[in-house]
Amino acid sequence: MALFSNIIISPKPFVLSCSYQNTHLSKTPQNTKQDAIFKIKGPATLSGHITISGSKNSSLALIAATLCCSGSSLLHNVPNISDIQAMASILCSLGAKVESFDGKMMVNSDGVGKIEVDLEEMRKIRGGFFVIGPLVARFGEAVVALPGGCNIGKRPVDLHLRGLRALGAVVELRDGKVCAHTANGKGLVGGRFRLDYPSVGATETLMMAASMADGITLLSNVAKEPEVVDLARFLNDSGASIEGAGSDTLVIRGKSQLYGSECVIRPDRIEAGTFMIAAAITRSCISMSPVIPSRVSCLIDKLSEAGCKISQVDQHTLRVSAVPELYPGDDLKSFGIKTSPFPGFPTDLQPQIMALLTTCTGSSLVEESVFDNRMSHARELQKLGARIQVNGNSAIVFGKDKGSSLCGSRVIARDLRGGASLILAGLAAKGTTEIHKIEHIERGYENIVTKLQNLGADIERSTLPSLSSLV
Ligand code: UD1
Repeated sequence: MALFSNIIISPKPFVLSCSYQNTHLSKTPQNTKQDAIFKIKGPATLSGHITISGSKNSSLALIAATLCCSGSSLLHNVPNISDIQAMASILCSLGAKVESFDGKMMVNSDGVGKIEVDLEEMRKIRGGFFVIGPLVARFGEAVVALPGGCNIGKRPVDLHLRGLRALGAVVELRDGKVCAHTANGKGLVGGRFRLDYPSVGATETLMMAASMADGITLLSNVAKEPEVVDLARFLNDSGASIEGAGSDTLVIRGKSQLYGSECVIRPDRIEAGTFMIAAAITRSCISMSPVIPSRVSCLIDKLSEAGCKISQVDQHTLRVSAVPELYPGDDLKSFGIKTSPFPGFPTDLQPQIMALLTTCTGSSLVEESVFDNRMSHARELQKLGARIQVNGNSAIVFGKDKGSSLCGSRVIARDLRGGASLILAGLAAKGTTEIHKIEHIERGYENIVTKLQNLGADIERSTLPSLSSLV
């Protein structure tokens, strides 16, 4: 609580109780066949300051973790985005009470009376799958759909399931659903499990499950992502005993009961990173807070390598400057990236960096090593005039000294972060860029239009007759 007790939570629309609706996100009636789009007129120059919202991925994990807790949990700084609303709906469908107001979310899951998750909601978001851990651990049983979310690769859940089996759960796949229960009416038991790959989601599922298992659990080769640290902090504040979060080994002493606690969601490092890249791609200077600089250090290094000046104004404020005076006679220089688990370069910023690299001098290599199909934004960036050669999970991006300069066009957001890369490219492109399928972007960015408008961008959200022929 102490670190971010100075966060000012901006008033947000009151949403819901137990029938979560996307109140501000889908104003278009379903039967009118209209598409919401973003229209951007570029090139933009940005200036000013923005407030970074609470982390989407931390919020999703913590909302799932409230299922472990008796009594009420209160989360502050929860972003009002459709993924969070879907997650809240999942909890409601189980019988939990969820109230959301002014960026706060209060959850009480004492009334959970169902162990089968609403499959439609579940298919919308990857994070929904995380409820399998708490449900089995606290209620002894769970039936969940195979997860949804962005279409960026195979995204199996074998590590979640094998880990749960290592804690004594019986797990079966039936009719596209995952059915898990504890054996012989007993609870989960502590055990040892080594993840083949440091999966963020599997680490989080198993942390929640092991926190309520009988005995000690040792998890090795776990994810070190900041969102894992945030989850451990919340669970520990709720009475769990998790040691080692942020390292590759977790020691978890199971407790028979956890109790709801209060937590401020840390700022979203991917949103912060997206705005840092927005400053770079528009050759502008903006500041942002709250940011935890150590969580974006990899991006700070890369942008600095390109020629941007990044300064820490105070403990939680960063200023990113890419104004042309910084590099007279030249321009931002290209650089290569290879995505990898934290503290490596985040896969969730790869598409946005690719957009930036199309405007830098020289050519660069972008390698995606976390997901096996995360390059679909390249095709859309090409529609804006970018020169990118994709080869499997790598891409060579030819910067503007090879004649590439972005021009507005009509493009489609094919996933959340790919969609963000199109916004960034649209800000840099000459003319008007129309982005379709923005529901992908609205899954993860709170008030992105207003935030960009406040920085001086010419961007608006509007509706058009459905253009399904585009897809
Ligand atoms: C989380 C984030 C997502 C981010 C990703 C990697 C949430 C809601 N989403 O997703 O934004 O891009 O971490 O930082 O927090 N894998 C397996 N078996 C499993 C689980 C994963 O093989 O059981 C593989 C995946 O196919 C992928 C890799 O591990 O290739 C990383 O996936 P993972 O870390 O699990 O990502 P998510 O938790 O789904």
